Amino acid sequence: MPFVDVIARKRDGQELSRDEIERFVVGATDGTVPDYQTSALLMAVVLRGMTDQETTWLTDARVRSGSRVDLSDLPGVKVGKHSTGGVGDKVSIALAPLAAACGVLVPKMSGRGLGHTGGTLDKLESIPGFRVGLEIPEFKAVLREVGTCIIGQTTALAPADRKLYALRDVTATVESVPLIAASIMSKKLAEGSSALVLDVKCGRGAFMKDAAGARALASTMVAIGNRAGIATEAVITRMDSPLGAAVGNSVEIAECLRVLKGDGPSDLTALVMTLAARMVVLAGEPQEARAAVAVRRALESGAGLETLRRMIERQGGDARVVDDSSRLPAARHRTSVCAERGGWLGTLDATLVGRAAAALGAGRERVDDAVDHGAGILVRARPGEQVRQGDEVLDLLYNDERRLERARTLARRSVQIVEEEPAVAPLVLESIR
Ligand code: URA
Repeated sequence: MPFVDVIARKRDGQELSRDEIERFVVGATDGTVPDYQTSALLMAVVLRGMTDQETTWLTDARVRSGSRVDLSDLPGVKVGKHSTGGVGDKVSIALAPLAAACGVLVPKMSGRGLGHTGGTLDKLESIPGFRVGLEIPEFKAVLREVGTCIIGQTTALAPADRKLYALRDVTATVESVPLIAASIMSKKLAEGSSALVLDVKCGRGAFMKDAAGARALASTMVAIGNRAGIATEAVITRMDSPLGAAVGNSVEIAECLRVLKGDGPSDLTALVMTLAARMVVLAGEPQEARAAVAVRRALESGAGLETLRRMIERQGGDARVVDDSSRLPAARHRTSVCAERGGWLGTLDATLVGRAAAALGAGRERVDDAVDHGAGILVRARPGEQVRQGDEVLDLLYNDERRLERARTLARRSVQIVEEEPAVAPLVLESIR
């Protein structure tokens, strides 16, 4: 059948066969299906959707486009974690060592920031010397010794996803539950974990703007993981305003250190502890309450912080930052965005704060842009707090004066002041197991 007929079948809302999906993924990757036909099929999927069966086949074909990491020689349950991405989302950097300190093996492959969302790798690279490009044997050695290791995704994992994601990015075909689910889960299945916790973000600063969309994405990914034999669960969390009080790179590392010292922002600390407890359960602790106690102990005893210190050391970083965060790169200049009138801080639009941080140099607009590790934003007033005219709401940290004006405009637009005390929704909206 000519490939145009496969596109037409999806355009008309029909279910594709396993062979047709395989042909699409293989052809898109090796170039035998040209980009214009790949793009047309992607758009047909955005408009017509996919059945669970098709989404599973799409995920599977993407996994088989590359190699899979074999962690079977490491003892115990390997529990992965993935977030669909948000602003100030530094959870993995505190969570992975905290869960590891409770005896969970946490292999973690992360990405870089693009657009308004930051990337775990960029944040870790703000620690002088930290290496994220370990080969798999070294990754496994660190995992065995420390209990966790965070590296970049190797190019051998799900290469079809890289090709398809790049095309989706420029053809307005990112926003689709089956396409996002297959993209994320193909990479997670290739990483070799035996269980997985997903943090699906929902709100203004997330792919999924409403609870129904986030629930559909979370359920689809949980189903794919479980069908592939990986115990998978998802937590849906709010992403309307930045998570924690720091957005950037070195400022987010400093905030993770505060969390592991018991002095972090309450929203971030609560989320890290909730996810860590789920990871302990997935690793074999049958009682949720005991898992929560283990996590609290690991935090209060400093065991989580010591695990992060050892991970930094083993990955070549300057572990002195753990006791002295002034060793992290800092910006030379600071200016504040203040409340223009009195009232309550309604929202702090996460997308705009993320874009403002990227404009200051903390993120990248194109994949090959360099990142300024010291630039970023500190949140001084949280949504729901009362503010007086002139109170500082955001601090902008920057090195390059030319970047300030655009960032300041975006940052000002992110601040919404309301006249009545706003209701603040809980951070964790629901769990899907
Ligand atoms: N992250 C991914 O890896 N893929 C998507 O499609 C969206 C977010």
